[in-house]
Amino acid sequence: MPSIDNPTEKTLAALAINDPLAIEDLFAMEKSRFDKQLAAKNPDEVNYTLMKNAWLGRKAGVLTLITENWLKSASPTLKPIVGQSLNQLKHHIEGSLEIFRIAAEKTSEEIASARERVDLSLPGVIRTIGSHHLIRQVFQEIEDIFFSIGFSVVEGPEIETPYYNFEALNIPEFHPVRDDMDTFYIDLPKGAPTPLLLRTHTSPMQIRTMEKRQPPVRVIVPGKIYRRDNPDATHSFMFHQVEGLAVDTDITFCDFTGTIEYFVKQFFGPGVKTRLRPSYFPFTEPSVEFDGSCIFCGGSGTAAGGGTCSKCKGAGWIELFGAGMVDPAVYGFVNYDAKKVSGFAFGIGIDRLAMLKYGIDDIQVFFQNDVRFLRQFP
Ligand code: FA5
Repeated sequence: MPSIDNPTEKTLAALAINDPLAIEDLFAMEKSRFDKQLAAKNPDEVNYTLMKNAWLGRKAGVLTLITENWLKSASPTLKPIVGQSLNQLKHHIEGSLEIFRIAAEKTSEEIASARERVDLSLPGVIRTIGSHHLIRQVFQEIEDIFFSIGFSVVEGPEIETPYYNFEALNIPEFHPVRDDMDTFYIDLPKGAPTPLLLRTHTSPMQIRTMEKRQPPVRVIVPGKIYRRDNPDATHSFMFHQVEGLAVDTDITFCDFTGTIEYFVKQFFGPGVKTRLRPSYFPFTEPSVEFDGSCIFCGGSGTAAGGGTCSKCKGAGWIELFGAGMVDPAVYGFVNYDAKKVSGFAFGIGIDRLAMLKYGIDDIQVFFQNDVRFLRQFP
């Protein structure tokens, strides 16, 4: 038999093969060439495709070459034996490649599952447990105090209409109070039914609550509010308030001051004194600012090491929040009978209250999310 590199590229005549035994040898050689090639390859998807194309490929696969070069041109006597041997080789190649494919599939599954395997002996991931932000903690302290004297919590939208934020609180358009409180208005499409703004205080919830409930009403409203104030140590453009509202048929100024004093003493401690100063809010009459004696200098106005107390600037008092008896005009907006009901309201700036209680001298630290600050209030 002639020595040749790739006999499948030549015809049987060119190979000078003309007897059945030589044909069997020729096919045995191809079978062994295939077996060797397959045995040398790792069972994976790429090798499977390579082998399949090389041997079974329609255009230039070995079996196609054999069909073209050996079978088609074989003499009538040799054709049956070539055909039969070709079928046997084909059967062998297909069977072997199928076994190879299954092995390749198994290997890739094993690799994937080894990659995904969970090693239960590894030490676990310990996640740091977070804590409530100091502002949330102060909200909670305030809510607990007011819960204990019969108030409940309601919450409301941070985006308000001018009606709830101003008009229904007795602040008509062009009232000078709006100058301090005009805020961020929202860009709305033309023809929107009403302008919208970020609420400047939690007081709109007084109106929303009274619209829904008949007296007696005793609620507090914790929430975020927004003003176009420039940021500094005591001002932020977004801060927090707790609104309070109590309305019934027989609420007096004494109930008002008693409630506020109770809250201040519970929150800051029994040693803190309180005082009222006249003030002005369009939705309360009379209106007051509520001051507490300075917790840093004990109300003396003198710092511990001598000199003027820097927190109260020597006054001995610190402003805590605005409040007052509900202005009868407000009842007109919620269909309460101003002749029958009376009540009080207050609006506590939570950030400043927290600064006072916890000795924080810059409101901005609440919003910077520096863990060195946050960790001090676990
Ligand atoms: C009001 O917002 C009234 N709605 C409070 C009120 C409610 C009065 C019910 C009467 C009845 P005022 O503008 O004073 O009031 O704000 C209340 C508190 O919010 C202030 O005492 C202060 O503690 C806090 N505050 C005001 N502006 C800022 C700001 N830019 N940053 C941080 N805290 C602020």
